[in-house]
Amino acid sequence: MGKGLLQTEVLAILLLAGVACAQPPLPAAQTPTAAVGQPPGPTPASTIPAFDTDRVMATIRFLAGEIGTRPAGSEASRRAAEHLVAQLRVLGYRAETQPFTFREYVDRGSELRVVGGRPVSANTLRDSPAGSVRGLLAAAGLGRPEDVAAADLRGKVALVQRGAITFREKVRNAAAAGAVGVVVYNNQPGNFRGTLGEPGPVPAVSISQEDGTALAEQLKSDRLEVELAVRAEVRQVADQNVVAVRPGTSGRVVIIGGHYDSVPDGPGANDNASGTAISLELARILAASGYPHELRVILFGAEENGLIGSAEYVRTLDEETKRRVIAMLNLDMVGVGERLRLGGSLELVNLAVELAANLGLRPERLSSDQAGGSDHVNFLRENIPALFFWRPDDPAYHTASDRPENVEPARVEEVGRLAMAVLEALARR
Ligand code: BES
Ligand code: ZN
Repeated sequence: MGKGLLQTEVLAILLLAGVACAQPPLPAAQTPTAAVGQPPGPTPASTIPAFDTDRVMATIRFLAGEIGTRPAGSEASRRAAEHLVAQLRVLGYRAETQPFTFREYVDRGSELRVVGGRPVSANTLRDSPAGSVRGLLAAAGLGRPEDVAAADLRGKVALVQRGAITFREKVRNAAAAGAVGVVVYNNQPGNFRGTLGEPGPVPAVSISQEDGTALAEQLKSDRLEVELAVRAEVRQVADQNVVAVRPGTSGRVVIIGGHYDSVPDGPGANDNASGTAISLELARILAASGYPHELRVILFGAEENGLIGSAEYVRTLDEETKRRVIAMLNLDMVGVGERLRLGGSLELVNLAVELAANLGLRPERLSSDQAGGSDHVNFLRENIPALFFWRPDDPAYHTASDRPENVEPARVEEVGRLAMAVLEALARR
């Protein structure tokens, strides 16, 4: 390990000397050449670099402007990961990609038609198998075991109402009773989007309450034959996290990170090149400061596919390591809009709210039912203390307009300073 670090140091110095300058181009005067790669230990305050918003903006422009849209599994996502690994190595971290694969369900739309009658608007129940089936429609209540037992479903398409049990259970029960397809109708006005949560046994869709009750009514007097088609595809996606480590002396671990992937619809400058770039800047400052705790900078892939990368990372942590982590800071969407919300572990939220006041900031607390939707959730699940930074007011959220020019440097700086204050407070623990 000591030898590897030395090699990293040599590489870092060569790179900083301009021997092989990756980018973004940085003013030489701001590069803390002497401090990078230093073994942990007290550093005079004067040599600790200040939070540099220009560097953060340059990284955002590179990730979201040069590389652009970077959904999981894309060449752009790989390029972004390799860039981040290179930058973290320059800063003296032991950095590498952590590859993983996952299964992605691609919904290509579903159709339901009464044979000889009208089409009914249907949504695929996520994880339904693709396929076309045709059969008599049969009402089967809520799809509970007693409901499917009371209906003759063999070779038929089951019509069941939403409620009481999960969609997965309804579809399983109906298929076990011989149904070749399942239609779930809503128990409130309109249609909905549901998921089975695991590959289902037969094609399954949802329809609106209005259509469902009309069909159920008709079935009392008529025989209805229906045709149900689910078009969907399952793909294996290969993607990666970026994992960087810098040893400490305290025995404790602090994790900083955020997701670097974007949705397929836009370049994700705010969501989440902003959090990625701030993480990198914090990594730079902390490496130069002789931070007492082991630092792990984790930039997650496939967040937008359902927090996949962070789940994968957390899965690889052993119990002993999990117990040593005193905080995980998740920065996600932090460069647009005035309001700042903090969520996660109460104790860390309290600490951050208190420190924010010293900086003239008034963050809001995320209520626990709002606190999902990003990578810290996977850490909280393993009882790892986590703090989530998030700004709720981005009009370009998940659109092609989430570009670097819409990211506000002042908002980036506020979050950078607050995160830095939290990290400084944690250093004294
Ligand atoms: N950056 C957002 C975070 C977020 C959280 C936005 C809560 C809005 C509300 C994140 O990338 C995101 O879009 N998350 C998804 C959920 C995720 C599991 C796919 C979301 O919240 O829809
Ligand atoms: Zn995000």
